[in-house]
Amino acid sequence: MTFLDQFLWVIYPYIVISIFILGLIMRYNTDQKRWTAKSSQLLEKRLLKWGSLLFHVGIIFVFFGHVAGIIVPLAFYELFGVPDVQYRLMASVMGGLSGIAATVGLLILLYRRFLIKRIRLSSSISDLISIVLLVIVVLNGMVVTAAHSLDTSGFDYRANLAPWFRSIFSFSPNTLLMTMVPSIFKFHVFSAFTFFALMPFTRMVHILSLPITFLGRSYIVYRKRH
Ligand code: HEM
Repeated sequence: MTFLDQFLWVIYPYIVISIFILGLIMRYNTDQKRWTAKSSQLLEKRLLKWGSLLFHVGIIFVFFGHVAGIIVPLAFYELFGVPDVQYRLMASVMGGLSGIAATVGLLILLYRRFLIKRIRLSSSISDLISIVLLVIVVLNGMVVTAAHSLDTSGFDYRANLAPWFRSIFSFSPNTLLMTMVPSIFKFHVFSAFTFFALMPFTRMVHILSLPITFLGRSYIVYRKRH
């Protein structure tokens, strides 16, 4: 195991987690008024409707897919007798469909952000960096899913990548597990961690602000002037 392995799969994740937590606390304390998704709907509606809807629906399912593959241990599937082929099929179909929705939506949003002049001019550097990084993570995720679906070598990320990920949070990081993981998976994880390191300083903080109170709050009554 090299120093690079130690850096990427032990030191870097903890640096990211620290920046993520401290960055969020700092942002909340100093910049609460701009803790928002910074809607650009007033500047362009048509592409936003499709891009945003497809991306958000897709990425929510992708999130649940990650919970099922990374957080839920392999032992759970073994306990309930779910064979590997069945898991792979489920991951390929569900992950593939939700990934395609997220990718198509994201590409529409990317086009809109860079090629619609009024949107580009109203974007900050952090807006541009976060969407490009998101494109890298999501496209790479799609490559990972395709590779995993077509792979017949028997590689299963639930036996190495997933326990490594969980070991970070139990403060006993097992780097050796990551040395068994193919590079495309490693790149996906590294770019995802980088995305989380930047999140507190971008409009992406809105991911953490689910508008739950919206469901229970009283109606806002609008009346005509006359
Ligand atoms: C460090 C955290 C992450 C880990 C360990 C991880 C790991 C994985 C793995 C193993 C797959 C393949 C799933 C399969 O083929 O069954 C995957 C796919 C994917 N990932 Fe991630 N990922 C992480 C974060 C993210 C983030 C932050 C995003 C986007 C915001 C993302 C987007 C995707 C997409 C779009 C796919 C393809 C669709 C799917 O299979 O769900 N991932 N990821």
